[in-house]
Amino acid sequence: MPRVFTAEIAGNAFLPEKDPVSAEMLSQNAQFKLLTLKPLSEITAPEPGQFYMIQAGTANDPLLKRPFSVYGLQHDCLGFLYRIRGKGTLSLSQLREGDTLQVVGPLGNSYPVPSGDFIAVAGGIGIASLLPFMNKYKKRAYLFYGAMKRDELVMLEEARELSKEAFFTTDDGSYGQKDLITDALRSFLSASQIAHQALRIYACGPAPMLKALSVITNAGGIVCYASLEEHMACGIGACLGCMVKVKIQKPEDRDKNKEWEYKRVCKEGPIFSLEDIKW
Ligand SMILES: Cc1cc2nc3c(=O)[nH]c(=O)nc-3n(C[C@H](O)[C@H](O)[C@H](O)COP(=O)(O)OP(=O)(O)OC[C@H]3O[C@@H](n4cnc5c(N)ncnc54)[C@H](O)[C@@H]3O)c2cc1C
Ligand code: FES
Repeated sequence: MPRVFTAEIAGNAFLPEKDPVSAEMLSQNAQFKLLTLKPLSEITAPEPGQFYMIQAGTANDPLLKRPFSVYGLQHDCLGFLYRIRGKGTLSLSQLREGDTLQVVGPLGNSYPVPSGDFIAVAGGIGIASLLPFMNKYKKRAYLFYGAMKRDELVMLEEARELSKEAFFTTDDGSYGQKDLITDALRSFLSASQIAHQALRIYACGPAPMLKALSVITNAGGIVCYASLEEHMACGIGACLGCMVKVKIQKPEDRDKNKEWEYKRVCKEGPIFSLEDIKW
């Protein structure tokens, strides 16, 4: 059950650089932080894919909490991997150890259990949602992780360690293959033919990546679960501010085609079957 609780900041640090980088990339990770929260009361353990609404800043500005996927639960502390984007995440990045925050969660659904090996497709900070899932099912993921450039790829060492096989792409070629991650996946699927086409795909990333992915999965009839990153106001299903149009099968109409309906990403999601999403 989601709960409102107070948490103390146990750490809010820029990510340490572990991968070798060349001299001009010294600004690496200046925009990515790992936030560790120590809940001040008992909490419900989250499942990979679930998220929390976290107060951004100590005053009421910004007023609204922001959604973040749970990245880890260790020694009763909740971990969140986040990218500084706007006012809320900037305020969050300025909080210090010992500050307290209001947090709501865990919220939303979680990734369905994989039946065997699977494919994980992450775009940018979408890796934050997929790494805990890959940690739960170690060495079972063929990971496809892409970003625009090298300093937007984080936790590479961990990503490699948890994967069965990992593929990296950047749009500018500054790390891994110079390609879009969806194109790398397309090549992998066509080269590996039937064996890998039977694998389920779990994805999290920006909407254009998910849209391109849906073309591949729809054409190949591949089951794909995607976590959507919609803007959220309440996070608990009350404001209807995070609606997406999805296809649903009504129980009473099993013999008919699926129908379009609006669903709340915070309540019925954030994970949906990719083939059911209207882009
Ligand atoms: C279920 C869920 C899980 C998420 N998990 C994470 C996570 O683990 N780590 C992380 O860094 N971020 C995550 N996000 C995105 C995060 O919530 C936003 O980056 C954050 O709310 C931005 O707040 P802000 O005040 O800093 O930026 P704002 O000032 O609100 O926005 C700054 C810029 O970012 C864009 N933006 C804001 N929110 C989103 C969004 N949801 N999707 C796309 N663009 C957006 C705005 O359009 C604007 O251009 C998640 C979002 C959802 C819905
Ligand atoms: S954010 Fe309010 S209903 Fe989803």
